[in-house]
Amino acid sequence: MSRSAHPAGPRHADVLPEGHYTAPPTDLNALDSKVWAQTVTRTTDGVVSVGGIDVKKLAEEFGTPAYFIDEADFRARARAWRTAFGEDADVFYAGKAFLSRAVVRWLHEEGLNLDVCSGGELTTALSAGMPADRIAFHGNNKSTEEITEAISRGVGRIVLDSFQEIVRVAHIAQSLGRRQRVQIRVTVGVEAHTHEFIATAHEDQKFGIGLADGQAAEAVRRALALDGLELIGIHSHIGSQIFDMAGFEVAARRVVKLLAEIRDEHGVELPEIDLGGGLGIAYTSEDDPSEPHEIAKALNEIVTRECESAKLRTPRISVEPGRAIVGPTAFTLYEVGTIKPLDGLRTYVSVDGGMSDNIRTALYDAEYTVALVSRVSDAEPMLVRVVGKHCESGDIVVRDAFLPADLAPGDLIAVPATGAYCRSMASNYNHALRPPVVAVRDGEARVIVRRETEEDLLRLDVG
Ligand code: LLP
Repeated sequence: MSRSAHPAGPRHADVLPEGHYTAPPTDLNALDSKVWAQTVTRTTDGVVSVGGIDVKKLAEEFGTPAYFIDEADFRARARAWRTAFGEDADVFYAGKAFLSRAVVRWLHEEGLNLDVCSGGELTTALSAGMPADRIAFHGNNKSTEEITEAISRGVGRIVLDSFQEIVRVAHIAQSLGRRQRVQIRVTVGVEAHTHEFIATAHEDQKFGIGLADGQAAEAVRRALALDGLELIGIHSHIGSQIFDMAGFEVAARRVVKLLAEIRDEHGVELPEIDLGGGLGIAYTSEDDPSEPHEIAKALNEIVTRECESAKLRTPRISVEPGRAIVGPTAFTLYEVGTIKPLDGLRTYVSVDGGMSDNIRTALYDAEYTVALVSRVSDAEPMLVRVVGKHCESGDIVVRDAFLPADLAPGDLIAVPATGAYCRSMASNYNHALRPPVVAVRDGEARVIVRRETEEDLLRLDVG
């Protein structure tokens, strides 16, 4: 879909995006298990529940907007990744998707490791008891303070992202009397997104060190020569919301080729490769993501095959799924406010949140679905655009969806698959108060990140 620039967001009158489903779903009350968390169901009185608690009760107790995360589902997905990859591989949950101390504890208990990309994420992880040696530290511009903290706390690996950083990390490690385990992040010339990928010679982006022109080989040379570093592997991350494994195939082939070159030049077989994250989830019923065991099988086969043909020992594989673990496990609950039918176009349904709790629609044209969850309805479907309460016409939560025509102010609606990159990218735009995250499990609900208050806003504003 092409999008015309507009100072206040996308053009107002783009009706239906290309390829959009034009027919309403046959049953507006149905909940597609592909997009909803595992324990989400409609109770006999028609109200949707999660973890055994209905959303009307949840709204009463915790208010709206709010994110509700299905703890059992989160744990099950984390465990599925762990089991699929087995003992000879490591799964690092990418904390940028959503991180809180409760989540860190769940991950720890389920045997996952953690990828952090800032001092803030590192502090959160450590303060919740994640052992430092199970943490990988990422970032294209880590500060001296962040590197010092990461090394002195003993993080398991730092993923080096530039030539400057190779020297900086080695220097800091040495001055602390340490030898830091590191990987080098390379850009393999694969741009992957959803159903497409493009293999190129170069990559025009800020992360990593290019394989093209021997840059990565030079980075390896330098890292191997520095006493403060123990080079344990090569890292590659090719994109996000990927369904097609072909991009990983090209990436793995190129990384293994580098491993073979390293062996030939230095006589060293690096023991690890990390293939990053980026596996897609279902945001709408149109999406068909693979299961962790299928992904693990495909990645293992690709790496094993490439290593056999290069006569290399198969390295230990690690992966960094974020969205694929947390994304499907949460939904955002909103209360319907103003309803504005625009004749011949669509009905605008305003909710009590918006782009401050889900920026992904405005930022990436992301697609979501929505459902009426506080009751069932037999009314006809109406084409809606769910919008927030911000002073901006691009403040869209769900661009095009169908809700029952008898929708009324006070109804509760929910947007599924908002576990990843919604709370973690939430903002205070228009001095919105960021919503809480509530974990629900076995009939119990507890706040794991509380709602922001006006006092929080004023505390930062020192006057
Ligand atoms: N590892 C590395 C090095 C990454 O850069 C990322 C994501 C991941 C793992 C996790 O990717 P995941 O499995 O969650 O797709 N804000 C965007 C996504 C940005 C992803 C950045 N890096 C969004 O909302 O779609």
